[in-house]
Amino acid sequence: MSDHKSASFTKKLIYTSKTHPDDRSRMRAVANNLVLHLHPTKVPAAALRWSYTWGLGGISALLAILLGITGVLLMFRYDASVERAYTSIQFMETQVFFGSLVRSIHHWSANLLIVTVFLHLLRVFYTGGYKKGRAANWLIGIILLLLVVASNFTGYLLPWDQLAYWAVTVGTSLLSYVPGAGGSISNFLLAGPEVGQGALRNFYAIHVAVLPALLVLLMSYHFWKVRKDGGISQPAPPLTADGKRRQRVERLTTIPHLVQREFVVAVALITVLALWAMFVPAPLEELANPTHPPNPAKAAWYFLGLQELLLHMHPLAAMILPGIVLSAIVLIPYWDKEEGDIGVYFRSTIGKLMALAGAFFATALVPLLVLLDEYWIDFPALLPSWPTLVSNGLVPLLLTLAGLLGIYTSMRIVARANRSEALVGLFSFVIVGFVLLTIIGIFFRGPNMALIFPY
Ligand code: HEM
Repeated sequence: MSDHKSASFTKKLIYTSKTHPDDRSRMRAVANNLVLHLHPTKVPAAALRWSYTWGLGGISALLAILLGITGVLLMFRYDASVERAYTSIQFMETQVFFGSLVRSIHHWSANLLIVTVFLHLLRVFYTGGYKKGRAANWLIGIILLLLVVASNFTGYLLPWDQLAYWAVTVGTSLLSYVPGAGGSISNFLLAGPEVGQGALRNFYAIHVAVLPALLVLLMSYHFWKVRKDGGISQPAPPLTADGKRRQRVERLTTIPHLVQREFVVAVALITVLALWAMFVPAPLEELANPTHPPNPAKAAWYFLGLQELLLHMHPLAAMILPGIVLSAIVLIPYWDKEEGDIGVYFRSTIGKLMALAGAFFATALVPLLVLLDEYWIDFPALLPSWPTLVSNGLVPLLLTLAGLLGIYTSMRIVARANRSEALVGLFSFVIVGFVLLTIIGIFFRGPNMALIFPY
């Protein structure tokens, strides 16, 4: 529906509320009005299928709202000082009415948000949701993902327990390896040589003020852009019987069709989250002890893929590789110009095969390479006269990049996949590889970061 029609529809709703002055119809008109500021009056029926978006963008937005509410409640009792942070959390856990539940909901929503935003990115990629003028929103989405990770990371330190202290110590040391700005960012964040009062104060300010403000701004822009881009992506409708035109897109009114679905998802999410938070409280280990690191000292779980890479490559290479992958993900809309397959999961049958092949190769190759590097391959020993930056940095980095290029080219040449389909295969390889590295980091690394079997 055009903006003009949508405005007149909104006016009609307000007018209707004036003609029925009882409170319920007025409240309903106000609520409808609010909904129609966020959504268009009608949406394509295809976009309403659960199995298209899985509600992941909406779930992420709801989690962000829950985080805002519980975060403000936590601020009433939290004390950002090295002497009192831990005891203020203990006090909240034991003395404050519903304090433990609020903290747990905040903790689990934050972790779940990383998962839902990541899955939303996968959904958008696999349905080609960045095509037909949606490149800007793809970029905004990537910035949102980075902000969500940064919010999680800065919140990690606040309880000031052993887990927080050492995860952030490892995390900031990873950060300092980022070529160019890494050292300065890490110095700025820590406000000193190590994690201490300066770091806690900085992390707190960034966590409760800077990142939420940026998230609200960018999320608002993200939603507005979805509407501006003509709603979410969808497949082109089939051709008419004479094969000359496209059939008309079936549209349904936002109220009640979309709103009902959003309501069901919201109630289900809040119920599951509240129950989970009741039965699985947010962790709180003993007070941070800067002189006693745990063994192994691990970063937060979402950084363990990166920490795993560091075990196999020189730190500079282990930071350049994800940097190259992230830049390539940003550039996807400019590389994949195929538009006919928008809204179709995995593009086509060939695309599906490429996705399966990419995922299969990664599942076979990544654990194998980790094992080989752990027990057999030793580049610095093989190339003793070369500096380690080259033997353990440049060599594995170039080999990895050549492997990725090889996968893409063989999909294009051997499987005759088009650019978009080959990209689906390469992307699946990279994502499955990264998830596997993260799983290995979480479950299969024990004391001194040696490989172990968890059970
Ligand atoms: C806080 C994080 C985010 C929130 C709250 C959010 C929310 C949403 C919502 C509600 C939609 C409408 C459709 C749907 O529900 O799937 C959407 C669409 C979209 N999002 Fe996100 N998003 C976030 C992060 C991301 C990320 C990480 C990306 C990718 C890099 C991304 C890219 C897009 C694009 C391109 C669309 C349009 C998709 C289409 O037309 O099919 N978003 N987002």
